[in-house]
Amino acid sequence: MSFKEKFKEGIITAKDFSREDIDYILQKGKEMIHNNKKADVLKGKILATLFFEPSTRTRLSFESAMYRLGGNVIGFHTGDVSSTKKGESIADTIRTVENYSDGIVIRHNLEGAARLAAKFAKIPIINAGSGSGEHPTQALLDLLTIIQEGHKLDGLNIGIMGDLKYGRTVHSLSILLSNYEANIYFISPKDLMLRKRDKDYLQQRQVKYKEIEKYRDILNILDILYVTRIQKERFADIEEYDRVKDFYVFTKKDMAETNDNFKIMHPLPRIKEISAEIDDSPKSIYFKQAYYGIPMRKAILAELLSN
Ligand code: NCD
Repeated sequence: MSFKEKFKEGIITAKDFSREDIDYILQKGKEMIHNNKKADVLKGKILATLFFEPSTRTRLSFESAMYRLGGNVIGFHTGDVSSTKKGESIADTIRTVENYSDGIVIRHNLEGAARLAAKFAKIPIINAGSGSGEHPTQALLDLLTIIQEGHKLDGLNIGIMGDLKYGRTVHSLSILLSNYEANIYFISPKDLMLRKRDKDYLQQRQVKYKEIEKYRDILNILDILYVTRIQKERFADIEEYDRVKDFYVFTKKDMAETNDNFKIMHPLPRIKEISAEIDDSPKSIYFKQAYYGIPMRKAILAELLSN
C-alpha cells in the first residue's frame, strides 16, 4: 500500500507509522530541503488550518508550506472566532469545513480531537497537537533535523528532558523512535515523568530507555538533548507548576561537558529551560529545527493532497 493510500484519513498518531513509512516520508522531506521554488503540485488546492490553541511555528510553517507548493489556505487561529464559541461541536465544524477545503490541519486542547475529526471527515486530517496527547508532524520534523545533522536513528543516544507527562511532542517523538534502535534517557522531575500508558507502549515495543532526574552525569554520552517547556497550561494546580518550573536550565557550563557531535534541540517555544547564552553555538540547532518544519510539512502536504 502506498503512503498516500495508507494515510488517506490523514496523520492522527505517530503509532500509525511503520519504520518504512517514516523512512519514506523523511526521504520526501529531504528532497524538499532548499527547494524554494514555488512548485505547483498543490495548485488549486485549499488547506484549512483550525487552531483552537496558540501556535507560531506549526500553523505558520503549514501555511507557508502550502503556499510554497502553490496551494491556498483558509482557517482560524483561535477558537474564539469560530462557531465552536457558540457551542458548535467539533464534528459539525469538520463536516462544514470539509466542504471548503481539501485537507484540514487541527490543533485542539482535547486529546481525542484529531481522531474525532478524522471520524467525521472525508478529507485528510492532520493532527497539529491534541492536548497533552500527540503532535506527530513535529516528531517527523524532529527526526528530519536529527538525520540532517548527521546522526543515525539506529544507535542514537538521545536525552529527552522536561515535561514528559504533558509534552505531546515528546510522546510522538518517542513513539517514532521506537521503530529504531535508539537509547532514550527520559530526564524530568518525578512529577513530570512519562505516564504509565506511554511507558507501557515503549516497553511493549522493547525500547531501551532509562528514567533519570539529573542530566549532568550523562551529557558526555548524548548525541542529542531534546529539551521541552513545562506545559503550564496543562496543570490543574498552579502550585504543582510552581514546584517544577525552575527544575533545569541548560547553560554554557553544561555545553562545555558535551561531546563534539552533540546537538541540543527544542520544539520551541522556549521559556527559560535553555539559556540564551548558548544560542550562537553550532551545537544549538533549535532554530534550524524550526526551519525543517517547512520541508517536512511540504512533503506531508504534497503526499496527502496532490492528485
Ligand atoms: C509545541 C506544542 O505546541 O506542543 N510547540 C510546537 O508545536 N513546536 C511545544 C510546546 O508548546 O511546548
